[in-house]
Amino acid sequence: MPLVNLNELYLDAYKNKYAIGAYNVDTLHMCRAILEVCEKNRSPVILMFSEGSREFMHPCNIKELILNISKDITIPFAIHLDHGRSIESCKSCIDEGFTSVMIDASKYSFEENVRITKEVVEYAHKHNVTVEAEVGCVEASLKGEDDFYTDPDLAVKFIKETNCDSLAVSIGTGHGLMKFKNDETPSLRFDILEKINEKLPNFPLVLHGSSSISPQLLNDFNKYGGTIKEAKGIDEALLTKAASINVCKINIGTDFRMSYITGLREALALNSNKFTPRTFLQPALDRIKQCVDYKQKHIFMSANRIKEEYK
Ligand code: G3H
Ligand code: ZN
Repeated sequence: MPLVNLNELYLDAYKNKYAIGAYNVDTLHMCRAILEVCEKNRSPVILMFSEGSREFMHPCNIKELILNISKDITIPFAIHLDHGRSIESCKSCIDEGFTSVMIDASKYSFEENVRITKEVVEYAHKHNVTVEAEVGCVEASLKGEDDFYTDPDLAVKFIKETNCDSLAVSIGTGHGLMKFKNDETPSLRFDILEKINEKLPNFPLVLHGSSSISPQLLNDFNKYGGTIKEAKGIDEALLTKAASINVCKINIGTDFRMSYITGLREALALNSNKFTPRTFLQPALDRIKQCVDYKQKHIFMSANRIKEEYK
């Protein structure tokens, strides 16, 4: 059964110094495309639904649908709720069969974050579901607020008090297109990762906001009608370095979504006399497959990691 709780995968990722890619999906075809690449690459993967994308799939049972399209898949993967904003939202995903949830109470006080996370962890662990939480605030990092980095001592205290399974940390990544100001040199706070690692070896950390938005991707996106003028993402080498320490899950939304829309735009522009949907959707899926393939092989180093027992 390849649909798994993440703890075992995190342990292997930590030990062997790689990260598992987590992609923001909106449709079942996207899920299938990702699973096909991962099957070929023998890489574990995380299919990540936001509350919005889950609503978009409504009223389907996502787990049942994914089990149906993954009967021939032998690599382990997880179905994960991204940025769960409430205890109810997390519980409802757990009840539906998600194998992992993120409770994001990072905008609240430390004590409130602990209280909310603890309640989700207690419920999740009864159902063999893993919980990711956040200390520091990745979302605040782009608003120019001072206090957004994760405090390593608070992170350690939080992990001990909540018993969460992984922790999203704020070390300089950010959501969306502009992760750094134009005149800023992109860098990440590796001292924070190292400090948590010293105090809590084997504990898996998560990086949000980790798209790289290469000039090539931006160029391809704009070639057939896109109008995104600027973007500044995370250097690939920084992500590989983070994966070699204690970052075991790396979230990719922007690169993945832009790849899909690039394929779609190109197909629409080149086939203006056609109207069969798959003529347009297949190139979009091919683009996301390339995106996932490249990251697994060259950035996250997660290709060829699956042990025999999953076959
Ligand atoms: O939770 C989702 C991710 O953090 C996506 O971030 O769009 O910057 O890749 P990104
Ligand atoms: Zn995020």
